[in-house]
Amino acid sequence: LPGPDVVALTGADVAELLPRPGKESDKYRRGVVGVAAGSDLYTGAAVLAVGGALRAGAGMVRYAGQHAPVTQVRTHWPEAVVTELSRPGVEEVGRVQAWVLGPGLGTGEWARELAASVLASDVPVLVDADALTLVSRDPSLLRRAAPVLVTPHAGELSRLTGAARDEIEAARLEHARAAAAELGVTVLLKGSTTLVAAAGRPVRVNATGTSWLATGGTGDVLAGVAGALLAQGLDCYDAASCAAHLHGLAGRIAAEGAPLAAGDVAAAVPEAVRRVRDGR
Ligand code: APR
Ligand code: MG
Repeated sequence: LPGPDVVALTGADVAELLPRPGKESDKYRRGVVGVAAGSDLYTGAAVLAVGGALRAGAGMVRYAGQHAPVTQVRTHWPEAVVTELSRPGVEEVGRVQAWVLGPGLGTGEWARELAASVLASDVPVLVDADALTLVSRDPSLLRRAAPVLVTPHAGELSRLTGAARDEIEAARLEHARAAAAELGVTVLLKGSTTLVAAAGRPVRVNATGTSWLATGGTGDVLAGVAGALLAQGLDCYDAASCAAHLHGLAGRIAAEGAPLAAGDVAAAVPEAVRRVRDGR
């Protein structure tokens, strides 16, 4: 598999890329990440995405959403700055350096308007889960000047490109690369290995994960981790690959050969960062 157009991302690469706070750091300069995820129907996705972002070193996490997830996020993460939205738009939310959009958002009119508002901003946006369904229905949402990182599993990529799911599974690398070129975005394709594709860059393959990660909500944590790295100034390609590496490693640390819950993965992200930094 490895060749000039495919590379494995090593722990040493990630250690080099990961931002590290210095004397000059303050919470704003360390990166403010906005999370537009969760809904009155699906509150857990909001809690998990915010948790992933906090554990991945965001200077601040701003959460914006409906009443029920706002209450849940406040309870689970007193560190987050929370806005209950009176209407589906993020204009009233303070400045952020990157947005995480989609997990648990729903796919109705409220979610569509919120997604359009986030994508109308001038900062990088990570598009996951329900927001992938929304942009599949209306591809014009992806026409924006600032960068987009999409984080589909094979089924979500199938909706996005129209290619059949089994064809994607049979040629993941080619489909990830083609989608990145066609949509003009960075693609993080999830599965037992994770691929990161962007135009003009070799596809990065990450295999730090474990099959214990195949449980509901781990993707929401990954979105938060990648969003925090985007907010800290990594480009989509590096943020996606570092996030995949750390998330996989965090899964291994949380599981140690036994079941894990998605929240455990977020909790293990700091230890994953430590191991990468110490070359373990
Ligand atoms: N080996 C290693 N990693 C795995 C494996 C595996 N066998 N299976 C899954 N993973 C990892 C993926 O790489 C990804 O990081 O677990 C994570 C799963 O993310 P998602 O597929 O987004 O799943 P999740 O966030 O739990 O969402 C489930 O998403 O599309 C919707 O309808 C779906 O409601 C469901 C929800
Ligand atoms: Mg998901």
